[in-house]
Amino acid sequence: MTSDVLLKAHGLNAWYGAAQILFDVNLQVGAGEVVALMGRNGAGKSTTLKTLMGLLARRTGTLHFLGTDISARAPFEVARMGLGYVPEDRRIFADLTVLENLEVGRQPPRRRADGTTVPAWTHERLFRLFPNLGEMPGRAGARISGGEQQMLTVARTLMGNPHLVLLDEPSEGVAPLIVEQMAQTILELKAQGVSILLSEQNLHFAQLVSDRAYVLEKGQIRYQASMAELSANEEVRRAYLSL
Ligand SMILES: Nc1ncnc2c1ncn2[C@@H]1O[C@H](COP(=O)(O)OP(=O)(O)OP(=O)(O)O)[C@@H](O)[C@H]1O
Ligand SMILES: [Mg+2]
Repeated sequence: MTSDVLLKAHGLNAWYGAAQILFDVNLQVGAGEVVALMGRNGAGKSTTLKTLMGLLARRTGTLHFLGTDISARAPFEVARMGLGYVPEDRRIFADLTVLENLEVGRQPPRRRADGTTVPAWTHERLFRLFPNLGEMPGRAGARISGGEQQMLTVARTLMGNPHLVLLDEPSEGVAPLIVEQMAQTILELKAQGVSILLSEQNLHFAQLVSDRAYVLEKGQIRYQASMAELSANEEVRRAYLSL
């Protein structure tokens, strides 16, 4: 494995109970990359992200993160190594304030493989990235909008100073204006050295932010290419995406 591969999955299979959902999934994410995991409803996008975090009861295959075999590690251990995860249902603590929600995600600063320190995320730095949240640090989670809750879950994950963030459908169910903001935020994170693997059905959104894409159908990767190649491939888009 070359040193700039952050996450590498080989031959992943995963099950919910007796039902096998993922079949021989191979994927990798390099340092500095934004990679999209695409596919229609039920294709297995969320299951892939959960499986990478170690959240499925039964999984086979091998997983490496930062060159370490994490195939048998618990989700909390993987999170502490710097793999961030923003789930689909994006739960924030309704009774805690915006600032308190951020504190829940705090982890110590991290070092890269080369010994340099990853600049730690602070409230100030996060509020520059999410100005809306900066205007309401004392407001309860229950009293901010859906789009702001979306931002808060991402911000809380960043408080863990992750090397790589798994982001489940950042554009889903939010207003068009927030979708554009989210795209800008992802590009800004990339510029600041955070790598991202996002699940996405929205080709437009994926095109705005991603370097590469994997396309899933029925729990298998059917196609992988640069985002530009996927955009140009009408056959693949028709077969596996919703357009
Ligand atoms: N908790 C669960 N128990 C059993 N089967 C599940 C569970 N969650 C998802 N599935 C099934 O696994 C398959 C993949 O679902 P998954 O949620 O990973 O798809 P997705 O690509 O994220 O879709 P969506 O666009 O709806 O978010 C589907 O057939 C789904 O019905
Ligand atoms: Mg999903």
